[in-house]
Amino acid sequence: MLASGRGSNFLALHRAAAQGRIPVRLVGVFSDRPAAPVLAHARDQGIPAVALSPRDYPDRLAFDRALLARVAAVQPDLIVCAGYMRIIDGTVLAPLVGRMINIHPSLLPRHRGLHTHRRALEAGDREHGASVHVVTAELDGGPVIAQAVVPVLPGDDEQRLAERVLAREHPLLVASVGALATGAVRWSDGRLWCGEAPLDAPLRLDADDRLVRP
Ligand code: GRF
Repeated sequence: MLASGRGSNFLALHRAAAQGRIPVRLVGVFSDRPAAPVLAHARDQGIPAVALSPRDYPDRLAFDRALLARVAAVQPDLIVCAGYMRIIDGTVLAPLVGRMINIHPSLLPRHRGLHTHRRALEAGDREHGASVHVVTAELDGGPVIAQAVVPVLPGDDEQRLAERVLAREHPLLVASVGALATGAVRWSDGRLWCGEAPLDAPLRLDADDRLVRP
């Protein structure tokens, strides 16, 4: 996992793996912020945690190469970005496309980038949510695997909406990683597949925390 912050998605994924709900083993957490709480959470769970500081490197490419070399050393089948706040150089990403996913707090393609909850409120959206997508060189622009939809309620402010979305991010990430781990969803020939059919529209997280076709 790549992460820069609080680590609630890490904890949700770790719990699901530890309880045997998904056939996943977390082999390392990697960060650009040595003080990120997610690193302490990982170490508490006995999972190796590595942080490198961008300021120790001459430029983005050098940093990204160094960090992804540390990631490659643990030979992951899948790299999960959860609150990793740096844009990764496209040349470093290219060989990883299809093996790296990101969780983003909006219903992509709406609200790429930052401050998604504020922007959903400002736009008057009636629905908001979170997406898990394949990472490509286009920021928050890769194919979407699955989404969790959350209603925007009267009286919502940024914090209340963010909390409601985060509560659905956790089962969304667990279900998405589980689907990739079991092969129910896979990347092949440059696209996503669900079973034998191409995944043309994102799967939805239902009320039982299962992924279903929309
Ligand atoms: C989540 O809202 C995620 O969607 C966004 O950053 C936040 C990370 O939260 N990309 P946490 O560190 O997993 O608690």
